[in-house]
Amino acid sequence: MCGIVGYIGKKEAMPIILDGLKRLEYRGYDSAGVVVLDKTASLIKVKGRVQDLSDKLSKDKISGSYGIGHTRWATHGEPSEINAHPHFDCKKEIFVVHNGIIENYISLKEKLIQKGHKFISETDTEVIPHLIEEFFKGNLEEAVRLALREMVGAYAIAVVSLKDPDKIVFAKKSSPLIVGLGQDENFIASDAPAIIGNTKKVIYLEDNEMGVITANDFKVIDLENNKIEKEISTLEWSLEEAEKRGYPHFMFKEIMEEAEAVRNALRGRVIPEEGAVKFGGLEHIEGKLREIERITVIGMGTAYLAGHVGKYILEEYTEMPVSLENASEFRYKKSVIERNSAVIAVSQSGETADTLFAVKEAKRQGALTLGIINVVGSSIARTVDAGIYNHAGPEIGVASTKAFISQLTVFALLSVYLGRQRGMSSVMGKKIIEELNDIPKKIENLLKQSDQIKELAKKYYKHEDFFYLGRKYNYPIALEGALKLKEISYIHAEGYQAGEMKHGPIAMIDENFPCVCIVPKDSVYEKNFSGIQEIKARKGKVVAITTEGNDELNNIADDIIFIPETLEMLTPLLSIIPLQLFAYHVAVLRGNDVDKPRNLAKSVTVE
Ligand code: G6P
Repeated sequence: MCGIVGYIGKKEAMPIILDGLKRLEYRGYDSAGVVVLDKTASLIKVKGRVQDLSDKLSKDKISGSYGIGHTRWATHGEPSEINAHPHFDCKKEIFVVHNGIIENYISLKEKLIQKGHKFISETDTEVIPHLIEEFFKGNLEEAVRLALREMVGAYAIAVVSLKDPDKIVFAKKSSPLIVGLGQDENFIASDAPAIIGNTKKVIYLEDNEMGVITANDFKVIDLENNKIEKEISTLEWSLEEAEKRGYPHFMFKEIMEEAEAVRNALRGRVIPEEGAVKFGGLEHIEGKLREIERITVIGMGTAYLAGHVGKYILEEYTEMPVSLENASEFRYKKSVIERNSAVIAVSQSGETADTLFAVKEAKRQGALTLGIINVVGSSIARTVDAGIYNHAGPEIGVASTKAFISQLTVFALLSVYLGRQRGMSSVMGKKIIEELNDIPKKIENLLKQSDQIKELAKKYYKHEDFFYLGRKYNYPIALEGALKLKEISYIHAEGYQAGEMKHGPIAMIDENFPCVCIVPKDSVYEKNFSGIQEIKARKGKVVAITTEGNDELNNIADDIIFIPETLEMLTPLLSIIPLQLFAYHVAVLRGNDVDKPRNLAKSVTVE
């Protein structure tokens, strides 16, 4: 989510690090910082963009031949100078930049505070330099190695210290990190674009590896201190290809990151043995949430449709009435907020004007307001009473994909959280958590079908009209599938409740009007099955999305995409993926600008 760059060599480190950070800004930015070491350590941090950091630096001449820098995309603590990296220990001698999330940071922080450590930021990262300080006995990599053994979660880190100078120590687990090798200089970076202008020779680090670079040498070890021989690879990508990690578009890259988006949304939040869920952001209102008797979900676009799935999930598992409102309607019509109501705002950016104003209106009426937001410290995140962050990482493609998947994951978690407050059994909680934990693997398998879906797109991309049909949990998925196709391929597509078909829409059906039918083997499968036969009887073409192992549609549907089996409430997390890929491949075949579709904006901050 954030960006890391480190340099050690004979040149001035500062300009090289700043240049690398600028090249990582596409990954999201809200604050940035750098520390450069010479005889002393010079640390500069700003809230804002790397350019703001450059402007601040141009006032002072900072010299040094090694250092580390960071561009932050907040996960814990809002964007601010104090929360920006590098973070440091009590004596300001050990500096750390970090990508990822330290899950057990609260308990580590408590222990360190008891030992007398002083913390100044709200971040999870700050525990790392203090932990290293605790273990430091003269050798930085040894202290880092011992500290890592205490840390649970995801990290890519780079560490420097004046107490053991002229080296950069690094480590990786679940967040990307590469070492760049040059002539009398070496680099460390979270992503290739940061160093591609300086060297093409790189080492890709694996999880649970750490090591050291000096100006002339490098070493990689495991956490038991065994040396690891690493292969040196050559970067073949151009800068632009590197930003997309070799994928042709950001949207495609973001779809391919969906398994990771689910893992990130789950990380640190489930207690499988208790069948329970915890959210750091809801702790201070836990008591109030117990009193809630009804919920209204609001949002716009894809976030609204995630809320639609959320409504069905929450109603089934918390047994509270849940209404869904488009935020722009909620704002202006008479919206009745009853006593003991919570309003949940869903927004990737946290900046959508309609959603923000609807939240303000809900607050004015006395509702308890919650947010499911991806961008930490955004306007909606700051306005709601409490919130859950998605941790999906920056989403750059205008058509939302991985943020949607992570919003659905959060709703599933929330249903366990609120459900367990209201009599959901631990057995049921465990079942949902178990299935949720299996979803990333299932997504990875599903994504392997991309080429097959591309073939399907070749068959259908010249059509100008589509219906998307689904029932119950997959009705909102029909709407979202149709929205994806509209947004990027500019094809007319409508989503309908499958049951509504014969009340009008079926009049449109002929051999030129394909229907994408989302029909997993769930509680409404039989109903959907008859609907498909009605379409076929009118010569309509049917693309069916169904569950692996179901061969009943083989002789009926024109094309079939299989999705893995899961709990009915979680099928949307799988059924949406072929629809996103289908829209993507169709749009590419039609020659459209997939990442920046015409007339659309990623974040709509006006009415
Ligand atoms: C815009 C985007 C959509 C997005 C919607 C809501 O219309 O093009 O992709 O779903 O805004 O955005 P939010 O940031 O609130 O989720």
